[in-house]
Amino acid sequence: MKVLITREIPQAGINILQQYREIEIDYRQGKPLTEEKLMEAVKGVDAIIPVIPDDISKEIITAAGKNLKVIATYSVGYDNIDIATATKKGIFVANTPGDLTEAVGEHAFALMMSVTRRTAEADRFCRAKEYKYWDPLSMIGPKLMGKTLGIVGFGRIGQHFARMAKYGLNMRILYNDVMPHPEGESLLDAEKVELDYLLENSDIVSIHCNLCEATRHLISAKEFHKMKPLAYLINTARGPIVDEDALVAALTEGYIAGAGIDVFEEEPKIHPALLKLENVVLTPHIGSATWEARIQMARMSAENVVDVLINKKPPRYLVNKELTDTKITSLV
Ligand code: DGY
Repeated sequence: MKVLITREIPQAGINILQQYREIEIDYRQGKPLTEEKLMEAVKGVDAIIPVIPDDISKEIITAAGKNLKVIATYSVGYDNIDIATATKKGIFVANTPGDLTEAVGEHAFALMMSVTRRTAEADRFCRAKEYKYWDPLSMIGPKLMGKTLGIVGFGRIGQHFARMAKYGLNMRILYNDVMPHPEGESLLDAEKVELDYLLENSDIVSIHCNLCEATRHLISAKEFHKMKPLAYLINTARGPIVDEDALVAALTEGYIAGAGIDVFEEEPKIHPALLKLENVVLTPHIGSATWEARIQMARMSAENVVDVLINKKPPRYLVNKELTDTKITSLV
């Protein structure tokens, strides 16, 4: 049985797959596969372990052919996979939930600290040999202790960030989510509010929701205009949740004070105007980049594959849950 792994991942996942003689691994390393190469590589495989920039479209799923049983993405998010097509064809889609909660929460925290205390800008200043004398009025930012943090999407990651902000900085926590989170509310003294209220009252707005049709461009010009002029936006979720043109306008025209951005509308492309702005800290989608998270992601995606190909059962971290009943019978 053939498993395509589209990029180099931590060895922990490969070790799991290599325990089974039945599994033949097509392990691609180096640069990402182009759409054409991916189309070729998926032909006849039983399983794919893709990474988030791989567009696992209807065409790719169809090109794989009828052996394909599971797409076990090396990620928590699965907006790059055509779930409807996979489900229609009876192909399991699985992800790696919970493994990067702390990593992404900590990165959001790091971006918040970095953009407010201007550490990236100050680093550029030092490297450019601009530090000639100490200046009482240079590189000043806000104190965060006791300020208000607005979390959009109060799931595992949003709550982890809120926990650090609450216990580290005694911040007031507002959140917006389609679901109520009573436990998180009582533990963090968090208040569930309308998005408008959150935008109008937060000093930091941090995005932690999934990308779906309802959240595409959730934060656009209208929303930026509601934010405080001294507020900051943090996005470690998905680029298209924020309208990047509107973000550039908000940063340039002073509707907000700054932004910490780890994800982009058309990754890996970055809006050229963002590259020129001092009041934004940019990172290349590294929210999950801790050893702990990345190794666990490798294990979980390999386990998802083993569940289906070897144990003949649905993957333990199944996304398209509607397949369970039908598939259990067809696998045994
Ligand atoms: C995910 O897993 O969805 C992250 O965006 C990348 O690790």
